[in-house]
Amino acid sequence: MANILIIVGTESGNAQMCADHLANNLPRLGHAIEIAGDADAGCVELAGREIVLVCTSTHGDGELPDNLIPLAERLRRDSPDLGAMRYGVIALGDQTYSSTFCKAGKDMDALLAVCGAQKVGERLEIDACTQPLPDEDALNWAQEWVTLL
Ligand SMILES: Cc1cc2nc3c(=O)[nH]c(=O)nc-3n(C[C@H](O)[C@H](O)[C@H](O)COP(=O)(O)O)c2cc1C
Repeated sequence: MANILIIVGTESGNAQMCADHLANNLPRLGHAIEIAGDADAGCVELAGREIVLVCTSTHGDGELPDNLIPLAERLRRDSPDLGAMRYGVIALGDQTYSSTFCKAGKDMDALLAVCGAQKVGERLEIDACTQPLPDEDALNWAQEWVTLL
């Protein structure tokens, strides 16, 4: 069993919907899920966290959702030692934005890696153009991901 913190970056709710779907379904597999959502992802404390799943969309021209910016700035500024943390990334985007596809998820992935956190599995990238049910995609991926923890 894993205690998983899902950190959500969202502007219009799709990433939150994915996180909620995981929180509704992963406990059946024996995992405990906590969500740092729209309001509290920016100020979440990562020290002491063992397993984190970042679930974020990309907005603007390859930018993080507003609610995730304070966390990213803190990671960049403080470079905390996250060597004890394992993480995964679910990145939501749209291939129409070809040069910045899922860039926020990629940036959060790189930031956590620079702080020493160890990535588990490959990042999931969900394309809004071709995937009308991102929460189903996220759950399918997460069911595999938890077996790697
Ligand atoms: C104004 C705007 C800008 C966007 N910019 C990007 C982008 O640069 N790269 C990308 O991959 N997706 C981009 N997207 C697509 C969103 O990431 C995608 O629709 C996602 O599912 C939204 O999730 P959310 O509701 O959790 O914010 C953009 C969407 C909007 C509305």
